[in-house]
Amino acid sequence: MTAISNDANWWKTASIYQIYPKSFCDSGSKGTGDIQGIISKLDYLKLLGADAIWLTPVYQSPMIDNGYDISDYYAINPDFGTMADFDQLLAQAHQRGIRIIMDIVVNHTSTEHHWFQSALGDKNSPYRDYYIWKDPVDGEAPNNWQSKFGGNAWELDEQTGQYYLHLFAKEQADLNWENPKVRGEVKEVISFWAEKGVDGFRLDVINLISKQQDFPNDEMGDGRRFYTDGPKVHEYLQEISEAVFQKYGSVTVGEMSSTTLEHCQQYSSLDNKELSMVFNFHHLKVDYPNGDKWTKAPFDFQQLKQIFNHWQTGLNGKGWGALFWCNHDQPRVVSRLGNDKEYRVESAKMLAASVHMMQGTPYIYQGEEIGMTNPGYDSIEQYRDVESTNMYDIMVNQQGVSHDEMMAILAQKSRDNSRTPMQWSDAPYAGFSKAQPWLGVANNYFEINACAAVEDTNSVFYFYQKLIQLRKEIDVITTGSYQDLYPEHQAVFGYQRQSDTQTLICLNNYYGEEAECVLPNGFDVGKAKYVLGNYDDLPQGVTQHQVLRPYETRVILAERVSE
Ligand code: GLC
Repeated sequence: MTAISNDANWWKTASIYQIYPKSFCDSGSKGTGDIQGIISKLDYLKLLGADAIWLTPVYQSPMIDNGYDISDYYAINPDFGTMADFDQLLAQAHQRGIRIIMDIVVNHTSTEHHWFQSALGDKNSPYRDYYIWKDPVDGEAPNNWQSKFGGNAWELDEQTGQYYLHLFAKEQADLNWENPKVRGEVKEVISFWAEKGVDGFRLDVINLISKQQDFPNDEMGDGRRFYTDGPKVHEYLQEISEAVFQKYGSVTVGEMSSTTLEHCQQYSSLDNKELSMVFNFHHLKVDYPNGDKWTKAPFDFQQLKQIFNHWQTGLNGKGWGALFWCNHDQPRVVSRLGNDKEYRVESAKMLAASVHMMQGTPYIYQGEEIGMTNPGYDSIEQYRDVESTNMYDIMVNQQGVSHDEMMAILAQKSRDNSRTPMQWSDAPYAGFSKAQPWLGVANNYFEINACAAVEDTNSVFYFYQKLIQLRKEIDVITTGSYQDLYPEHQAVFGYQRQSDTQTLICLNNYYGEEAECVLPNGFDVGKAKYVLGNYDDLPQGVTQHQVLRPYETRVILAERVSE
């Protein structure tokens, strides 16, 4: 008997915890995390209240992109453990009522996958057509599409004289979804894990699988408009969904790169024909001036509010979104939008509340629940991420950006900011491992660690625990409409959620000075109460006029009592 409920809509009131296994917990002394390490921390996740774990890839992989380059979909990477370890994790998680969502990477495989190894250098290989091959144009790459990790997206296969497409690293070859055999393999892979009893799937860059088949040169950009939300993407997702997701009742979340609301309404439409929900990243581009990630820049607060408004109102009643600030590709939010020095705890809590009170399913990335920060690396040797090292090479060695400038950019933008080892305690290496970790620990682990957080009832940890509980207790968080209350305000992000029976207001001061706002006229403060705040001395009784302290958040609920 497992403690797992059989409610098909469980994920609408759930909060999901993301684990990046390489950096989570090392059960031995390898310096890299593993599955046994995760098992040892399940009680911690239970205490937090996580309903499910999104496990980033643990499959066989040469780890060029830390597992997003899969060489065998049916095997566990020995660095992480064995299939028996995985089965144990699944059983142990289920015993605690925690579900497991696997990461499925099927836009591309590792070039070490046996399909690619057979295809490379052999036009007659039965697997040649599993990938995308094109002849050179004027002795050069077939078009100017850019890899997301820098440089041209095509790599030459010397033996056959053709290029293969790789939208990410050259060791990640894009699969040819036009080939029905590829789609057949994908169904088999996903069915294998669903048969094992995993509860769902996170689909990596799934809106890039359908490329415009004439592969045009992009005179206006990097090529993304020819493969993002491409011509057959909905058709393909419906095919996979019908064959696998619907059959097994799997919850699914699609990672949607540079997508649109209209496409996401369809990907996550409530008839469940494609996916359960979607990740989009527009709110995390508010510090990319003119769309450029690789520039050091403050965030645009007004734009942030507009984007949330666009997505919250646009998905309401039509689809379902994932709510998140952090993942293994994003810098730590408290360093990014908060204040990781004097207001670290306050701003970490405020940022948490400001997305957790929205409609959707919240995702918490390991360490976010204790307010972990960017590590502030100051040497290029400290970075490991393929994207960061590629960009350093391109910008410093090819484009003439100074080393110091690039170090400042990486300290703000690198994906390694979120991949530093999880800070468990004040023991050496933050209790993550007994050996030197593969990536340096942030040196604030003495103060910021899970042990200390669990012992302190005022910690960021217990604030997240409370947010997870509130989602289960207050219906309007799941069901209510969304209205931005102060779109023009320079410091306050405040919104109202409304259902037939409840109104909830979430006020957030995004800056280090006091800020004022007035609750909407129709809001009956007499019937309202504070349900959450990040300062421990909330005023008695809710007043129309609100004065928020630095990085303060307040959640106010009014129930309409029937007479
Ligand atoms: C997704 C993953 C990222 C990976 C990329 C290519 O964006 O989250 O980590 O590098 O896809 O698979």
